[in-house]
Amino acid sequence: PLPDPFRLPLPIPPVKRPVRRDATTDWYEIVQRRADVELLPGVSTRILGYDGVFPGPTISSRSGRRTVVRHLNHTDVPTVVHLHGGHTPAEHDGWPTDLVLPRSGGHHTHHHVGHVTTGRRDYVYPLAQPAATLWYHDHRMDFTGPQVYRGLAGFHLVRDDVEEALPLPAGDRDVPLMITDRAFDADGALKYPAAEHSAGTHGDFIEGVLGDVVLVNGAPWPELEVDAARYRFRVLNASNARRYQLTLDQGAKFVQIGSDAGLLGAPIEHPALTIAPAERFDVIVDFSTFRPGTVITMSNPPSRGGAGRIMRFRVVRRARDDTTIPTVLARVPRLTPPADAPRRRFAFSRGIVPDGLGGERKGWVINGKPFDPGRIDATPRLDDVEIWTLSTDLHHPVHVHLSPFQVLSRNGHSPGDFDAGWKDTVDLRPAETVEIAVRFTDYRGRFLLHCHNLEHEDMTMMSTFATK
Ligand code: C2O
Ligand code: CU
Repeated sequence: PLPDPFRLPLPIPPVKRPVRRDATTDWYEIVQRRADVELLPGVSTRILGYDGVFPGPTISSRSGRRTVVRHLNHTDVPTVVHLHGGHTPAEHDGWPTDLVLPRSGGHHTHHHVGHVTTGRRDYVYPLAQPAATLWYHDHRMDFTGPQVYRGLAGFHLVRDDVEEALPLPAGDRDVPLMITDRAFDADGALKYPAAEHSAGTHGDFIEGVLGDVVLVNGAPWPELEVDAARYRFRVLNASNARRYQLTLDQGAKFVQIGSDAGLLGAPIEHPALTIAPAERFDVIVDFSTFRPGTVITMSNPPSRGGAGRIMRFRVVRRARDDTTIPTVLARVPRLTPPADAPRRRFAFSRGIVPDGLGGERKGWVINGKPFDPGRIDATPRLDDVEIWTLSTDLHHPVHVHLSPFQVLSRNGHSPGDFDAGWKDTVDLRPAETVEIAVRFTDYRGRFLLHCHNLEHEDMTMMSTFATK
């Protein structure tokens, strides 16, 4: 039986302490393991968790300070860690076949060659990038969907002086919100429609796996008690396949201050927030005009099952609030491609892909081709500004690794309401064509471009570019 909504308090993921710090670097250690946790009240659910929790612990880094995260694989499946939004050298970016094998055997075959380690791996993140809400999650070839669904996802925040000089809500009033939908079996098990050791879901789930319970920071439809003051929410859609259109009642609004890869130039007010998988919106919600006792509900259009509700806020006390929302937030230089900028096209569509058993099945392709880790589809030069044209048949949230981009146009018109600022994921809607400007910097090597609907990704909607 599903719990009543709005009964559980919003959990805040634990903030990870470094095991060591020196002049240049913070060192962390995370143990990936299976754990039995209570997501639904009174029910035990087996997860795959970073440190055995879901969401995983939050890492908080300083821009420009190196962060090294040692991941120990104490699970029984291979894993790969990707820091989503990280400006990261290729060898630490979580290439899908750079597997970290479980420390103690396990049964799996890997037909793709990668940089494979056993038991652990140190991921090195220079983090020479502005303050932003990043997240880390599993990226294992063919198994990203099930492994993220079972719990391998967490926040990694980058902070800097520019942001801290602004009078924005901080401390307890700076709250990460990881939104995921999940389905549960009667016994509390997470219900993912594929066997643990076989790649991909079956045909019925080719569109992506949806759940009927919305978890925010791992709790079903939780409630957060708030002061009558401004709050900053770092909203992340970490769902495998569900898009949301978030609204607040009682006249409360979202004022967006940041996008995937950092602060906006200026705040933007949104009556509703459309958020596709992997996107982040950093927003301010002002509760200061509400009397204690007021309840404000965050909803989604009533769709399938319980995904029409998200969470709610209860104003519990009047409070002092010295914050404001500055009209100028950060310097966001426009990426202006030169007239002769290199242009590339990527068309996202249904297609026929290998089934891994020597046959074929329905799946998802880019430019007609299924992912092949041995093939390079584009070779951009470092520091060039390129124009990429992304077109689509259906909904595909398109994510580019290594460097953020800016949206130039949608269907030949100006960018949409949710395209502002530095993005790393763009929400392509059916039949749309979106142009982005992108400049890759610093690191040469192979990187991914892919759909962040995780079932589409696992059903081969990925492509490789190699910076040179
Ligand atoms: Cu968030 Cu390539 O992934
Ligand atoms: Cu897709």
